[in-house]
Amino acid sequence: MSSLQNRRVLVTGGTKGVGREVVARMHAEGARVLTTARSLSGELPPDVIFVSSDLTTAAGCATVAEAVHERLGGVDVIVHVAGGSSAPAGGFSVLDDVEWERALNFNLMPAVRLDRALAPGMVERGQGVIIHVTSIQGRLPLPASTTAYAAAKAALSNYSKSLSKEISPKGVRVLRVSPGWIETEAATAFVNELAAKAGHSYEEAKAGVMQALGGIPLGRPAQPREVADLIAFLAISEGLTGQEFIIDGGTIPVA
Ligand SMILES: NC(=O)c1ccc[n+]([C@@H]2O[C@H](COP(=O)([O-])OP(=O)(O)OC[C@H]3O[C@@H](n4cnc5c(N)ncnc54)[C@H](OP(=O)(O)O)[C@@H]3O)[C@@H](O)[C@H]2O)c1
Repeated sequence: MSSLQNRRVLVTGGTKGVGREVVARMHAEGARVLTTARSLSGELPPDVIFVSSDLTTAAGCATVAEAVHERLGGVDVIVHVAGGSSAPAGGFSVLDDVEWERALNFNLMPAVRLDRALAPGMVERGQGVIIHVTSIQGRLPLPASTTAYAAAKAALSNYSKSLSKEISPKGVRVLRVSPGWIETEAATAFVNELAAKAGHSYEEAKAGVMQALGGIPLGRPAQPREVADLIAFLAISEGLTGQEFIIDGGTIPVA
């Protein structure tokens, strides 16, 4: 197993939720970390470099790739965390082309564009790790508003596998982490909203969400720190490439 000490690490979406925990964990392990989001909300650990970007655009991805070259002199580990869905309710028929493009531009294209810019340097050095954060929805889509998101995550997963086949023989490992429900601040706010609407407690509303997901055998969502722990482990596990690691408390009902 290698170490993260002095590794140059890019984390996308590192200001909130899972990304913020990944940044904290990488920093604590001694890595040199650059992260990006549209704006800096809250504080980052000391010496972590923040670059403002909109990753849904080619220009935003180019800004980040340039910053990685200029400020870190290259990259050893890329963790693509940014992603999500803000699609309207109403089912597949309200997901117009704009919504589909939004889903793909947020959940697939940033990884494609950043890898295309940065992975050649890894290949040249014959080493590096790329971790794509997808979702169990890539395999087990929920109905309705997240249809485009789920399809985009499935595409990300397929792309990740393909990339792993191409560049693992050249020394660059490519892995996927697929979370189920994670209790991020945004998820907590969402549950609080449901609770307020229904006149329920937070725990009652949370149980309702878990039921809607078909149940979580572990009885709770994952914590952002637990997802970051898995990512940090994969970053230094030299024997692993081309695989998907599901962290969903057992939500997916098959092995
Ligand atoms: N939360 C869950 O239950 C869950 C479940 C399965 C999979 N996932 C996946 O796990 C990953 C992390 O999810 P999360 O819930 O932790 O996310 P989150 O709390 O919503 O944080 C998203 C991060 O991405 C940044 N971001 C958003 N839009 C951006 C843009 N256009 N350009 C650049 N950065 C942008 C955000 O900062 P700004 O808003 O300031 O830009 C923030 O730092 C995502 O890929 C998500 O799909 C999450």
